Amino acid sequence: MSDLSHIDLNNIPEHIAIIMDGNGRWAKSHGEDRLFGHSKGVDAVRETLKTARELNVKFLTLYAFSTENWNRPQKEVEGLMNLLVLSLANEIDEMNENGVRLQTIGNIEGMPKECQESLRDAIDKTKSNKEITLVLALNYSSKWEITEMVKTLSNKIKNKEISESEITDDLISDHLTTRRIPDPELLIRTSGERRVSNFLLWQIAYTEFVFLDIFWPDFGRSQLIEAIYDFQNRERRFGMVSEQINTIE
Ligand code: FPP
Repeated sequence: MSDLSHIDLNNIPEHIAIIMDGNGRWAKSHGEDRLFGHSKGVDAVRETLKTARELNVKFLTLYAFSTENWNRPQKEVEGLMNLLVLSLANEIDEMNENGVRLQTIGNIEGMPKECQESLRDAIDKTKSNKEITLVLALNYSSKWEITEMVKTLSNKIKNKEISESEITDDLISDHLTTRRIPDPELLIRTSGERRVSNFLLWQIAYTEFVFLDIFWPDFGRSQLIEAIYDFQNRERRFGMVSEQINTIE
């Protein structure tokens, strides 16, 4: 299903988040090493971003490197960091031609210096683009960002900048690394795993999940369209009953 006739172009999620999983298993199944799987993963990122932009998705968040990923073999971690720097350099012109704005979430200060510089440069060069925002989650974990938010708010209370009664869910959202990014309506995970793995735990309170039994390098245009089709056939009730939703519409 790679054509658009099945989906409602007026009901496209504004924000799609993706846990890109299975590069290593894809590589193994093709008799290649893990880094080859990751570089195929970059091809899938390119196609997904292009399709998302075409469909008028406004935010695409990709879980590119988790806090836990540092525990992988050093060679793989270094390979992933090099791939990030190389991909940013390769893609920057096309991102600008296509109106892609780059942002990051996560503990970027904990990334290698060279990655930080490439990211800063790409973020700066794309900051005025308006078609779609590509959010790379790097050195990210939800528990880390929630812990940081609690520390920041406790300090603000201690310094009497805010009072406890001013803490609302909006204030909490404003103190996460995703501030100014709307919550995702759709979360996709590839590779057959059905876990959230410390990704956007606060932000996915009402998100629809689509779990796919394919490895990330095999994800592309038709799989994104199919996931959106699946999303559009769910009834999102936000805690209400079906009849209330139908009355609102
Ligand atoms: C999951 O596959 C993938 C990752 C941890 C990294 C994702 C990175 C990329 C797609 C490339 C770099 C990204 C950018 C944006 C330049 P896995 O290694 O966990 O696969 P496995 O579970 O089969 O081992």
